[in-house]
Amino acid sequence: MSVNERDPHTGHMLTGHEWNGIKELNTPVPKPVWIFLIAAFLFSVACWILLPAWPLGSTYTKGLLGTDQRDVVTEQVHNAAMARSVWTGKIAAMDYAAIRRDQALMTMVRQDGHRLFGDNCAACHGINAMGGKGYPNLIDRDWLWGGDAETVAQTIRAGINSSDENTRVSQMPSFGRDGMLDGKAIFAVSQYVLSLSNPGAVKGTPAETLRTGAKVFADNCAACHGPKGLGDHAMGAPNLTDNIWLYGGDAQTIYTTIYDGRHGEMPAWSPRLSATDIKILTLYVLDRGGPPQ
Ligand code: HEC
Ligand code: HEC
Repeated sequence: MSVNERDPHTGHMLTGHEWNGIKELNTPVPKPVWIFLIAAFLFSVACWILLPAWPLGSTYTKGLLGTDQRDVVTEQVHNAAMARSVWTGKIAAMDYAAIRRDQALMTMVRQDGHRLFGDNCAACHGINAMGGKGYPNLIDRDWLWGGDAETVAQTIRAGINSSDENTRVSQMPSFGRDGMLDGKAIFAVSQYVLSLSNPGAVKGTPAETLRTGAKVFADNCAACHGPKGLGDHAMGAPNLTDNIWLYGGDAQTIYTTIYDGRHGEMPAWSPRLSATDIKILTLYVLDRGGPPQ
């Protein structure tokens, strides 16, 4: 309903509606807005036809172009894996010494190993691989289980006191808790152990106590830690003479270690990480420790 009358103030036409002398202006939606709405609608119709759009129960309209973001991502992941396989294939095929001589490969190992280590190992061993109390430093060349490449790889694969059938078993007895040694004997042997790396710390200890300690050590500890306390990789038993400590080298901590045992644990990585990833991590850890000896 429109009348042929123009509002003198605004210049708009009037609709003919009037309430108590107030007349309604005829102000239609501006053309550009119509054009925009129509264009947007046409664009959406085109998208419905060309791209995946409407759900249809268990499937959906696939669109004429046949694009699918899931395929795009799958392809990108595949391409990344292919790009990686160019050098990981070499890692899988070559032996450790040859890889360590190949500087281009070692550059990849350093980058990729850093990521793998950060994702899987840093929580326990620290981002710098230098460990902490109860978690060994992996770059100090002081090994519990041995530091040649195949041995390190095996430790990573099977874990320590893990649920893997090939796990390394770290089993120092709880000499005090299980009543194998009394408090006096544990005190004596802990003083003796302390004397191996830190003679200054036992200056005040009676020679008699140290002699008793040495005897207790020979009878109970040497089987794993060696007659001189130098440790044994086969048992995962640390060298007790080098002043590098997994749990701590003060008298009280050594006493607690002997009283309770420690039974450090590391999960097995074999099913979780691929054989190649474990090889990369082995190379990464050894590389962080410095050039091969
Ligand atoms: C849940 C904690 C934890 C995580 C995660 C972990 N480790 Fe360990 N790792 C340990 C502990 C604890 C030990 C020492 C156990 C023992 O007393 O023998 C160890 C020992 C090792 C050793 C043997 C060191 C030696 O001196 O012989 C290597 C090598 C090692 N870890 C590498 C790795 C790598 C590589 C990763 C990542 C894939 C990793 N660890 C992840 C806890 C962990
Ligand atoms: C069955 C083998 C075995 C015997 C026997 C054994 N140990 Fe151990 N010892 C280990 C292992 C393995 C570790 C590594 C601890 C861990 O992570 O559980 C260890 C760790 C230690 C540590 C901690 C070192 C550190 O760096 O913090 C001390 C100290 C120690 N042993 C002293 C002794 C003394 C003293 C005796 C004898 C009374 C003894 N051990 C007997 C296997 C043994």
